[in-house]
Amino acid sequence: MTAAKDTFYITTPIYYANDVPHIGHAYTTVAADVLARWRRLNGDRVFFLTGTDEHGQKVAQAAADRGVDPQRHVDEINPRWHDMNRLLRISNDDFIRTTDPRHTKRVQEFMQRLYDRGDLYTATYTGPYCVRCEGYYTIEELLDGGLCPIHRKPVERLEQENWFFRLSRYADALLDLYDRHPDFVRPAARLNEVRSFVAAGLDDISASRSAFDWGVPVPWEPGHVFYVWFDALLNYITASGYGDSDEFARRWPADVHLIGKDILRFHAVYWPAMLMAAGVEVPRQIFAHGFLLVGGEKMGKSNATGIAPAQLVEHFGRDCYRYYFLREISFGHDGTFSWESMSDRYTADLANALGNLVNRVLNMVGSYCDGVVPEPTGATGEPEARLFEDLAVATDGLEAFDRLDFQRGLADLWTFVSGVNRYVEARAPWAQRKAGDSDGLHTTLYTCVDALRIIAVLILPVMPDAAEALWAKLGIGDDLHGLRLPRAATRGMLPVGARTTRGDVLFPRLDDT
Ligand code: ME8
Ligand code: MG
Repeated sequence: MTAAKDTFYITTPIYYANDVPHIGHAYTTVAADVLARWRRLNGDRVFFLTGTDEHGQKVAQAAADRGVDPQRHVDEINPRWHDMNRLLRISNDDFIRTTDPRHTKRVQEFMQRLYDRGDLYTATYTGPYCVRCEGYYTIEELLDGGLCPIHRKPVERLEQENWFFRLSRYADALLDLYDRHPDFVRPAARLNEVRSFVAAGLDDISASRSAFDWGVPVPWEPGHVFYVWFDALLNYITASGYGDSDEFARRWPADVHLIGKDILRFHAVYWPAMLMAAGVEVPRQIFAHGFLLVGGEKMGKSNATGIAPAQLVEHFGRDCYRYYFLREISFGHDGTFSWESMSDRYTADLANALGNLVNRVLNMVGSYCDGVVPEPTGATGEPEARLFEDLAVATDGLEAFDRLDFQRGLADLWTFVSGVNRYVEARAPWAQRKAGDSDGLHTTLYTCVDALRIIAVLILPVMPDAAEALWAKLGIGDDLHGLRLPRAATRGMLPVGARTTRGDVLFPRLDDT
């Protein structure tokens, strides 16, 4: 008996190893990481995959420009992608390189299957090709008579004998898939785009290239390598155990492929058709987010607007980095990065709302109770009731993460953070202390520290460093990473007698001159 799917499987695109990462790539990877951590916090077994796309003309050209062999080039670039993941504390479970033998072997097996089933044939391709996209276009799709619609740069004219994939054969099956599973592509507007593209009629697509050899060899045709997109898309199954039935059955189909909207057609049209052709189940969802814009243009390597994540992490720290893009930009829409808005978010949401709150509460526990969490012996009333309502807003709201609506989830979480601030003002523990109301004071402080405990748990997917630092201050002892929702966010779970420490402030003021 083969195993059943029991794993939440999430992927990022595999990024071209022609160059080093910029914040556009990090945007996808961080979002995927937050979802992976969120699912783990909810008790799921998760498989989170990322990697690099190392074959094709674009990478071969980058290597040639540097005057090095392509293998050496990708071996030198690859560590930079691991650096990005470490820098941003990405918790991927695997990292696939398309030059890995485990990958190339399975690509050949899969493509052999399409060949055996009669879905590949030879023909001559003549038409436009954008090397930056590694994509074929029709003349009608080009801008201003000859520019790539994504990069707005001139395309090449390609003429060569290739192996072709009978994509046209799958048009009806694809339309049927979109109708039966309207969530297959999200946001919904993107599904409409894909549906119109397919409804307009599909041409067969090239599946091999013979003009250069930097790719996975076509087993039955010496001198041909597979077209890089076939090679690349297959990473999602080669890395998740395709060919090893148990492992694959536990993971596949992927729950969500996170991508940018630039590569939607490859994922929502070519990829399911390839899988249908091989008799493999299609993924559950493709989520295409928008572009990060700088000065109104898609930020990228090709137009020199690339900003390295390290530049921002150095100034704002990695937690703020992880928080900012997801809080500021509606996932699925384009958004503009600016230093000013990042600085404003840091100050308002992190330094003031959260950092000050932690500092203030732990200061009072320090000076009024020697740092020890008191027993809540006083009566509760309207301020507590309000606070617990705000907590419900946060715990309900965070479920938006499952819809990739990080902005909503974080806004609702911060309703609770602000709610704790409001609660402190409403109960005014300094006044309770002055009035000698120690039962009231103890209930207030217990409630505040218990709220900080819940905040530490709930920010964990987005800001793991701050979550751990806050957790350590609370002196609870349990392993934060071992906790699971909903239990961990239930009020009243803070142990009386825990020894808190104030320590360093969580988000120190920035020198932003
Ligand atoms: O397309 N804004 O790799 P790639 C938002 N190898 N996201 C951006 C972005 C921006 N300005 N720039 C890049 C490839 N991205 C293929 C993928 S998958 C089987 C093969 C992100 O290095 C976004 O996720 O060009 C986009 O889809 C991806 O980087 C493209 O990375
Ligand atoms: Mg690109």
